[in-house]
Amino acid sequence: MSERVSSNAVWHHGHVTSGERAALLGQQPATFWLTGLSGAGKSTLAFLLERELVDKGRACYVLDGDNVRHGLNRDLGFSSTNRSENIRRIAEVAKLMNDAGLIVIAAFISPYRADREMAKEIIGADSFLEVHLATPIEVCEQRDVKGMYKKARAGLIADFTGVSAPYEAPETPSLEIDTSRLSREEALAQLIGLLPARK
Ligand code: ADX
Repeated sequence: MSERVSSNAVWHHGHVTSGERAALLGQQPATFWLTGLSGAGKSTLAFLLERELVDKGRACYVLDGDNVRHGLNRDLGFSSTNRSENIRRIAEVAKLMNDAGLIVIAAFISPYRADREMAKEIIGADSFLEVHLATPIEVCEQRDVKGMYKKARAGLIADFTGVSAPYEAPETPSLEIDTSRLSREEALAQLIGLLPARK
């Protein structure tokens, strides 16, 4: 988890620009960054958004917390340091995918403001679309799709966001969605509205 670049690593410049790759796909790449509590609706909306965008002929890819923690980030837990590293790696992957021309939909609790700032810096402020899934904790806890709030309340899961670990809400997100108040259709329309018009 060193932040230093090896002095033996040299950057190679290719013969294709990111602009050419984006032009090939006929779109302007961007990263939707969905942040919010467990159960707020991040993954559900992320995959619905991917479906809708692909139906509209846009090339995109979902990076989802639970899924990425099965592979690339399987070595990470939920301490603040590990969550930071989780977000750093995801942001680097999103940056590469944007460079490849793809629209990325990242769905991570990403509870710390500083980590989301880091992600924005890595990805680039112009293509970073921060979306706060602001569903109230009472609703998330009532949904408890994975039974995790119950376990966390019983003390069986340590550092559980919203219960025994903090969630720092974004102060100025590009968009705020409360899935207990907004229909899926309306939420999707608002998300798609954030994308720049197709060239
Ligand atoms: S993040 O905080 O590092 O951004 P991430 O989105 O990757 O979290 O993973 C969250 C998922 O991990 C949750 O949806 C939940 O299923 C699971 N999980 C397991 N332990 C915890 C925990 N202590 N806090 C939050 N989520 C947890």
